[in-house]
Amino acid sequence: MIEKEQISNTDKLYKYILDDEEVGYLEIRIVDSVIDIMNLFVKETNRKQGIATKLMKELIENEEYSKIMLEVNEHNKEALRLYTKLGFSEISFRERYYGENTAIIMERYK
Ligand SMILES: CC(C)(COP(=O)(O)OP(=O)(O)OC[C@H]1O[C@@H](n2cnc3c(N)ncnc32)[C@H](O)[C@@H]1OP(=O)(O)O)[C@@H](O)C(=O)NCCC(=O)NCCS
Repeated sequence: MIEKEQISNTDKLYKYILDDEEVGYLEIRIVDSVIDIMNLFVKETNRKQGIATKLMKELIENEEYSKIMLEVNEHNKEALRLYTKLGFSEISFRERYYGENTAIIMERYK
């Protein structure tokens, strides 16, 4: 089950609840119809069960926006595969954004 919580004027939290436990969450910021993915996390023991996909699809299908943007570590293969599968494209890079690692900036239009 997904629960949504408005945490400020701009920020919203999607929580994935399984057997009364929060096992994953997606934190977003919405400014001028652009959504930024601030955080996406699934508890290690609950990964590879489609939870992150469900959280992201809930956002993609139900929120009002013109586009969604995010930054992901170039070495985070799981996240990169997930975002690509969901229709995000690489648009730019920010070197040394994560210490020595580059951030890949991705976006997806409605
Ligand atoms: C990245 C992250 C959020 C992915 O979460 P997840 O819930 O494991 O993701 P999903 O299960 O939706 O998808 C991952 C894989 O599981 C597969 N999967 C989905 N349902 C499945 C099922 N029932 N059985 C087996 N595999 C399944 C998906 O097909 C996908 O495989 P693929 O990578 O080969 O396409 C998670 O690894 C995480 O929290 N990482 C640490 C934080 C992080 O890096 N966040 C992103 C910051 S940008």
